[in-house]
Amino acid sequence: MVITKTRSPIRSNVGLKAVMAVTGILLALFLIAHMLGNLKVFTGETSFDHYAHWLRDIGKPLLPGVWFLWILRTGLVVAVVAHIVAATVLARRARAARPVKYAHRKKVNGSYAARTMRWGGVIILLFVIYHLLDLTTGTLNPVGDASKPYGNVVADFAPERWYVTLFYTLAILAVGFHLRHGAFSAFRSLGQQTPRGERRARTAALVFAVLLCAGYLVVPFAVLTGLVS
Ligand code: HEM
Repeated sequence: MVITKTRSPIRSNVGLKAVMAVTGILLALFLIAHMLGNLKVFTGETSFDHYAHWLRDIGKPLLPGVWFLWILRTGLVVAVVAHIVAATVLARRARAARPVKYAHRKKVNGSYAARTMRWGGVIILLFVIYHLLDLTTGTLNPVGDASKPYGNVVADFAPERWYVTLFYTLAILAVGFHLRHGAFSAFRSLGQQTPRGERRARTAALVFAVLLCAGYLVVPFAVLTGLVS
């Protein structure tokens, strides 16, 4: 028997998918902007530090102090939490809707994409916590001086700290896989609902994810190889 409860539109499956899409797009926009900002490391120490300090001044004089930054941070946290809550509720509902329970829990629980999205999401979350302690608060950074963002980045990916580059690489690849699936879903919904449209959406999502990963990875590898020092 199927029991249908009346839910507010946002709690319906369609509403939750819209929450996932909107928050996913906001997070992807942040990732694009952050990646482009990081590439300024190739323009030299003065320019990169100037850019990083400018980030704290956006909105001035309309907004006092670092208000813009805090509005951005709040927006990011709300988007991440809403994205995770919506994903969890949708996954639980999908599981509950399965008509016959498995006698033994199958190895393949849900689609391949769904599983990588879940674990990929957890890896990304752990990475972001480490990353904030590393490059925002400076707690885990060998330099850890907020007034020297360039120095922090160079110290972070120094050759003797290759394991930091390795960890960043794994996390960025997780971001890439996560984004490829998210972008594919978005492009598929927006494009033609035909096998050709689906192929195009798959290709566009792959290109987007590869470009984003490359844009991020080039920074630690430039430091590791001495191109940026
Ligand atoms: C090689 C890759 C990356 C580098 C070199 C890098 C660099 C940085 C730096 C230097 C800061 C500090 C900015 C400042 O406070 O002056 C920062 C902050 C931040 N990064 Fe990254 N980042 C990378 C990848 C990522 C990725 C993949 C994510 C998300 C999944 C991310 C999310 C953030 C967030 C949320 C902040 C905090 C922004 C704030 O509130 O101040 N970063 N990053």
